[in-house]
Amino acid sequence: MARQRVPGGRNRPSSKDRAPSRPGINVNRPGSHGNMALCRSSTLWIVSSGILIMGIAYVSYQGYLQTRVNTPLSVPSAVSNSGLSDPTRFWGSYRPGVYFGMKTRSPYDLLSGLMWFIPDQITQNDIGFRHWCEQGDNLARYGWVKHDGENFGVQEIFDRNLKLTTSFVKRPGGDRGGDWTARIRVEQNHTKKVTQMVSLFFYFGLDEKAEGALLPVLDASDALRMNEISGTSPTLGSFRVKFVENGQAKQHFHAKLISPGPQSYTDLVMRQLRRYEDKQAAIGLDPTSNVEGDPNLLVYQVNAVTPFELDVVFESGANMAGRVEGELVGNLYTDALKQLERDYDLAFEAQFHLQNKGFSRQDVDFAQAALSNMVGGIGYFYGHSLVQSDSNPQAVQYWDAPLYSAVPSRSFFPRGFLWDEGFHNLLIAKWNPKISADILAHWLDLINVEGWIPREQILGLEARAKVPAEFVVQHNKNANPPTLLLALESMMHAKENRQSTWFREFLVRVWPRLELWYDWFNTSQQGPVPGSFRWRGRNGTADRELNPKTLTSGLDDYPRASHPTEDERHLDLRCWMALASKLMADIGRLIGMDHEKYSATSEFLHDNMFLNEMHWSEKHKAYLDFGFHTEDIRLERPPINSKTHRPGMPKPEKIRVTKTPPKLQYVPQLGYNSLFPFILQIIDPSSPKLAAVLADLEDPQKLFTPYGLRSLSQSASLYMKRNTEHDPPYWRGPIWININFLAVRALKHYADAPGPNQYRAQKVYLKLRQAVIGNVIREYHRTGYIWEQYHDKTGHGQGCRPFTGWSALTVLMMGETY
Ligand SMILES: *[C@@H]1O[C@H](CO)[C@@H](O)[C@H](O)[C@H]1NC(C)=O
Ligand SMILES: *[C@@H]1O[C@H](CO)[C@@H](O)[C@H](O)[C@H]1NC(C)=O
Ligand SMILES: *[C@@H]1O[C@H](CO)[C@@H](O)[C@H](O)[C@H]1NC(C)=O
Repeated sequence: MARQRVPGGRNRPSSKDRAPSRPGINVNRPGSHGNMALCRSSTLWIVSSGILIMGIAYVSYQGYLQTRVNTPLSVPSAVSNSGLSDPTRFWGSYRPGVYFGMKTRSPYDLLSGLMWFIPDQITQNDIGFRHWCEQGDNLARYGWVKHDGENFGVQEIFDRNLKLTTSFVKRPGGDRGGDWTARIRVEQNHTKKVTQMVSLFFYFGLDEKAEGALLPVLDASDALRMNEISGTSPTLGSFRVKFVENGQAKQHFHAKLISPGPQSYTDLVMRQLRRYEDKQAAIGLDPTSNVEGDPNLLVYQVNAVTPFELDVVFESGANMAGRVEGELVGNLYTDALKQLERDYDLAFEAQFHLQNKGFSRQDVDFAQAALSNMVGGIGYFYGHSLVQSDSNPQAVQYWDAPLYSAVPSRSFFPRGFLWDEGFHNLLIAKWNPKISADILAHWLDLINVEGWIPREQILGLEARAKVPAEFVVQHNKNANPPTLLLALESMMHAKENRQSTWFREFLVRVWPRLELWYDWFNTSQQGPVPGSFRWRGRNGTADRELNPKTLTSGLDDYPRASHPTEDERHLDLRCWMALASKLMADIGRLIGMDHEKYSATSEFLHDNMFLNEMHWSEKHKAYLDFGFHTEDIRLERPPINSKTHRPGMPKPEKIRVTKTPPKLQYVPQLGYNSLFPFILQIIDPSSPKLAAVLADLEDPQKLFTPYGLRSLSQSASLYMKRNTEHDPPYWRGPIWININFLAVRALKHYADAPGPNQYRAQKVYLKLRQAVIGNVIREYHRTGYIWEQYHDKTGHGQGCRPFTGWSALTVLMMGETY
């Protein structure tokens, strides 16, 4: 996965492929020669003005090149409805990076969110304040248990001895996005202690550039207490917020603040806390500080005894008619939520048939939580990336744009990743294909005139605040697997999509963008010989990495040729291109666009004889990369120079030492990469190569484990090897669920395809599906989380958590809905 995990980590944009700068490129442009000819036969004045013109042409051509990287493709937007014109998705829990918060799908607007601490668990160094999802908070478990992506959600959070349930229900109506109510319920998880205090905060803030106003309505008898907020924003018009409590509140406080943006909410609020000696030494917000000017952040605080419920009722001034039945609080809210939960259970079963397949109630709960976290983790971001091209020595701003996207992990990666997003939408599209279409459209709208999409989207100040500056810049030579096409392909397979007008219209809108994107890959990632492809961005001069990483492939440290050169042929990229070509042909045919060139390329890339010629190693009986490679290579510490080394000085870092010179050959590192012709279903069902792949896959010495397929065979020389002294193995052994999903799906495909390998595929299908599902569910119940990856020897979850990005694809394997 192309992401940094720790500072110093993984997704430093690489610029190793940077071509030498291009002096004189203008000389070869059509027209330049004409100017030259004119110059020669004329006066000095003309000569010098000719030079001047050339100079201007050069400067403006450079200028043109410099602007291309951040110029949007100018065709109609792929997103058809945004903001208020899509009322069903206007409000949502679109802030995956906080434990709970509601916001709108408009660029700068109202934000809301929950914070809390537990007064009797404050330690000297740590108040235990909760707001952003942080792994360091060490919550036993948290996440959505039900969420339909549009109307409601229910989340459970277990923090120390408390259980918080956060839910919301939307009520449509009016032309300003309608109303919603959020309920925060806090109770003891253990019954040992009878009473327990909790301090809850709920805030409403205007985003950094939002216009509008927020006015607190204070309690007549308690000036520290805020009963309501009334406010306006350009999109929302006028609105009102009420705080309705159920239970025993001890004290109330509030704060009116001026904030530079949501990235600083936590600090700002914490700094307003003080001890009120006259109120049983309670810790509360100080409403008197920081009130110069109009506040853009209002915070409600209640200190209460559990069990306790706080209903936060948001009412749009434009939705009077929506409230004929009364305010959405108390029993009305409880009943509305119950009804939505029942509908959800029915829809879930109708889609995935898990009860029908005999899964237990516990398993179904797991699956609902996995889907709900994927859907409930969808965020709405607005802002720009920082990008770089060879023509721009300095990073420049991409244009400001919205992104509606799921996220890999709410704590660790709460933003959009191109490589993950296609996998996410394999699941989302089964639940609600219109949400997926909307997500894909947002991503495709981020394409520039060159046909490039930045792979990691760090939009807005809140997202930026989580990423160290040196990892922010994205380089326009770097690709990332076009997994969005996986999602599109899966949507194309569903007959009900293919036959519906909305889906065809969607395809027509995205088509010009897909064409350009495809073309960008087909030209910029081309390999040395026709039909071969090469990921850019590997560092050929890296001297600390055992095997220079290929972040662009998504498989980060998966071993490739030891010595990156232009001769490399990357198997996985070739297979992605085969998939892309076939899909483009299929879409083109469906919507009546030119599909012939795609069909031709697809046939070419699906030709097994040709594939074998390029990537099948008869010696290793496997599909492999080809490149300038040696197996005889090690990380060694340089000898310490006793003349210059003083005691206490750090030892020099290990560097790699090539023991036997590399040569052009197949790269014998059997693993996920080798499976691509299989997992993307390019191998002919009758091919003898399929038997070989199935054998490797089933072999416990190689890829099979009781928990799923490991990323690199135990027989590979780099199995579980560190890439540098500081980088532990990532895609060199651990089990990843996205690739396991594709493998299970492919096994099903080959199990259904008549041929000599059909029976074996059926057998392995059952075995692998069971292994993956069993382990992910077991680990969920054991640890409370779905994980980034799983240990190949113990099955234990590892890496970051919660990771209900692609690991949630387990649901599709359970339902066998591929
Ligand atoms: C909640 O409490 C129960 C026992 O009452 C315990 O088994 C469970 O692990 C607790 N849950 C969490 C997530 O702490
Ligand atoms: C490649 O690695 C070398 C040695 O570690 C380093 O000096 C150089 O900056 C790297 N190049 C790029 C483009 O990252
Ligand atoms: C992809 O590139 C190859 C090689 O340049 C070319 O022959 C082929 O027509 C291209 N395919 C499409 C669909 O553009």
